[in-house]
This record gives sequence, structure tokens and C-alpha cells, in this order.
Amino acid sequence: MKKPPFLIVAIDGGAASGKSSTAHALSARFNFLHADTGSYYRALTAELLHRGVKPTDAQSVRAELADLKFDTQIIARDARLKIHGDRISDADIRSEAVNAAVSHFAALPDLRAALLAYQRGLADLARTHGFAGLVIEGRDIGTVIFPSADFRIFLHADPHERVRRREREGQADAVAERDRLDSSRASAPLTCPAGAVAIDSTHLPLIEVVERIARLITVRRMES
Ligand code: DC
Repeated sequence: MKKPPFLIVAIDGGAASGKSSTAHALSARFNFLHADTGSYYRALTAELLHRGVKPTDAQSVRAELADLKFDTQIIARDARLKIHGDRISDADIRSEAVNAAVSHFAALPDLRAALLAYQRGLADLARTHGFAGLVIEGRDIGTVIFPSADFRIFLHADPHERVRRREREGQADAVAERDRLDSSRASAPLTCPAGAVAIDSTHLPLIEVVERIARLITVRRMES
């Protein structure tokens, strides 16, 4: 039987729009490497806060970034960012301090540039490790990182529902404020990529969102 083509699935959307759960489910179903790029911005934010750098001090941010070395730890099917060989804990990247600062750091073009090649390199990493594809989620994946991805998906949901989702996860997260900052920044703002499949997940169970995307992937695999 012919080997299925290596596929890249780009999922973009606002905070708590369902990106991570959807990407996890697709990764398990199709044996795709999963990259949660929000966690990379969070890890860099935690590292810079730890080094006492403020997002308003672009010069210090640039100086610190020049010193950082990135690599990847694959845990099951998740590609986790390591900085200087260390992985920052999930508790640290989801702290209130990081929630409050991450959109400010993510608006800096130097910081985005520092992560660009790293994120694009994950496709080759996935191939090398024998994954059938890459499912990568964030805010600028279909617009900037992989504009030619096989599938560009844009997830959205009513802001009240998204706040409720974060509360159910036990998190205090200013969802609307982060979305405002992420959508209005000059550098790679959150927006629906051209040609993307837009899915409103407000009233759609996760399993339905996953099924819709899985059907597209299955059809593409059968066609090739
Ligand atoms: O997905 P998340 O909520 O964990 O992302 C945290 C922040 O990282 C988000 O508010 C904006 C930033 N981000 C970004 O600017 N570009 C991405 N591709 C992913 C995240």
C-alpha cells in the first residue's frame, strides 16, 4: 500500500477557542507530531521574566534573545521547547504572571523572529521521527509560519464561553484582553488565514470539531 503523504495542519484561534484539545485529538488519531506554539511564547516569557526583563525594554529583550539556545523534547507526540537544555514546567508557563505578560512579549517582532525558524523546523523534525504529519496550533500559523499548510483551520467561539472554559480548567485568564492585544498588534496579528476552514466551536462538542477536520484529512489521504 502507498505511504500516505506527510501533512501539515495549521490551527489558529483565540485563547480557549479549543485549539489544544482539537490538535491533541488529531495528533493521536493520525500519529502527527503536535506543536502548541502558545506554550513556546509562554516558555520564552517565563524565561525573560525570570531574567528580570520587561516587555517594554525592547533592547534588553533583544540582548537576552541573542543568548538563548532552543531545542526540542518530544514527549509522546508533543514537541516541547527546551531553552538551554531545560524544559520550563507547565505550572510555570501557565502562571498568572505569564498570562498577564505573554501577549506583550509576543507583540515584539524580535521575539517572534527568534521563534520563526524553530517553528518551521518542526516539520522536518516530525518527518525524521517517523510521524505522519505535523499539527501545529497558534495565532499566526496559517498566515506566517506555514501559509502553504495542507490544511488551515481557524477556530473561534463566543468570548463568554471561552472564559467559562478557562474557569472550568481552574485558570484566571483575561481571555478578551489577550485576544484584543493579539489581534491588534502590528506584527503577525491573530486573523483568519486566507482559504482557511473557519469553525465556530461555541455550541459544538469537541468531538464534532475533531470529526470535521479528521474527515478532510481522511479524504486527502484517500485521494493521494
Ligand atoms: O495559545 P496560548 O493562549 O497559550 O498563547 C499564549 C500567547 O502567546 C497568546 O496570547 C499570544 C501568543 N502567541 C502568539 O502570539 N503566536 C502564536 N503562534 C501562539 C501564541
